[in-house]
Amino acid sequence: MNRHLPPRHDIPSFWRPHEPGTVFLHLGENPYPPSERVQRALAEAARHANRYPDTNGLALRARLAEYVGYGLRPENILLGNGSDELIDLAVVAFAEPSRPVAAFKPSFFVYDFAAQRHGVPVVALARAEDYTLPPCDTALAGMKSHSVSLTFIANPNNPTGTLTPRDRIREYLSRWPGIVVVDECYYEFSGETVADQIARHENLIILRSLSKSFGLSGLRLGYALAHEHTMNILVRYAMTFPVNALAQAAGLAALEEVEFHRERIRQLIRARDALKHDLESLGLEVLPSHANFLLTLWPETPPDQSPARRLAEQGIWVSDQSPVLNLSRPALRLAIGTPEETARLREAIRILLAQGRAGR
Ligand SMILES: Cc1ncc(COP(=O)(O)O)c(C=O)c1O
Repeated sequence: MNRHLPPRHDIPSFWRPHEPGTVFLHLGENPYPPSERVQRALAEAARHANRYPDTNGLALRARLAEYVGYGLRPENILLGNGSDELIDLAVVAFAEPSRPVAAFKPSFFVYDFAAQRHGVPVVALARAEDYTLPPCDTALAGMKSHSVSLTFIANPNNPTGTLTPRDRIREYLSRWPGIVVVDECYYEFSGETVADQIARHENLIILRSLSKSFGLSGLRLGYALAHEHTMNILVRYAMTFPVNALAQAAGLAALEEVEFHRERIRQLIRARDALKHDLESLGLEVLPSHANFLLTLWPETPPDQSPARRLAEQGIWVSDQSPVLNLSRPALRLAIGTPEETARLREAIRILLAQGRAGR
């Protein structure tokens, strides 16, 4: 069934964290290393690595329930090896080859990847021109005619950074009976959530992550929120030990310092908005962002002068998302780095654009 999947080792590896002087802005990571407290918790957990972790991660789920609020309880929460794993789990639990998955495109590639792994077709639903969700009426007919089982909505969306107002998402939840997965991976950057709707809508699954806002990408720690009835189905498909002991310890320690992380997020948001302003002054089109990255639209460029490649030659890694957006001109997704990294990026872009203008 899965003969069409590429061999795993053909997928390019982007893992080069120790190259000195290189700026990594291509994977939307948090640029700051874990706090002292998280590092101490990791060292302590490492001393007990001969033991299996808590299979259910109860302590962390209890702490997450407090953090999320809205009266949610540990029973409403499932931990995963990154939210990536929970995307896969939702497909396994709710979709079938005859009951496809739908995703509003352009969006995060892992929805397709997860569906393909399980031989489930993907129905592409178009986003509106501003990359938010279209009115419900526009999409519902397509969802019905394809017998869609499960619909993925990234909010804020990756790679565009755009946010769909929650009232529109609530409309989908009320009018569409199938499972709706609202991926709130960038929640802390947008401040907008539908977590208050869990008790009301059994068809809602929310995915969150500690990768971006708590800077724990390398530990792979995500969580799902759902009504108890839905959660009872989802958990049946979970692995025996989905989240390792170090990730659980680091997650607990990071949640002891919510205000510290919120301050870092506020700094990243200020830096994002300042960079947007500067890049627009330089003549780039920049989408409004509610995440920790900016999507920038560039003038048409010959492939051998692609700005992503030219930035990489200077040790600045960014991601060209033009294939995902189906655009012929470059569409670079730029994560917000440290102030020094952002300054280097801004200057490199200024020079690239000036050279482009001089070459014309
Ligand atoms: C929309 C979206 N969902 C999920 C993820 C995966 O996050 P995690 O690191 O928790 O697997 C990403 C990562 O970039 C993302 O952009």
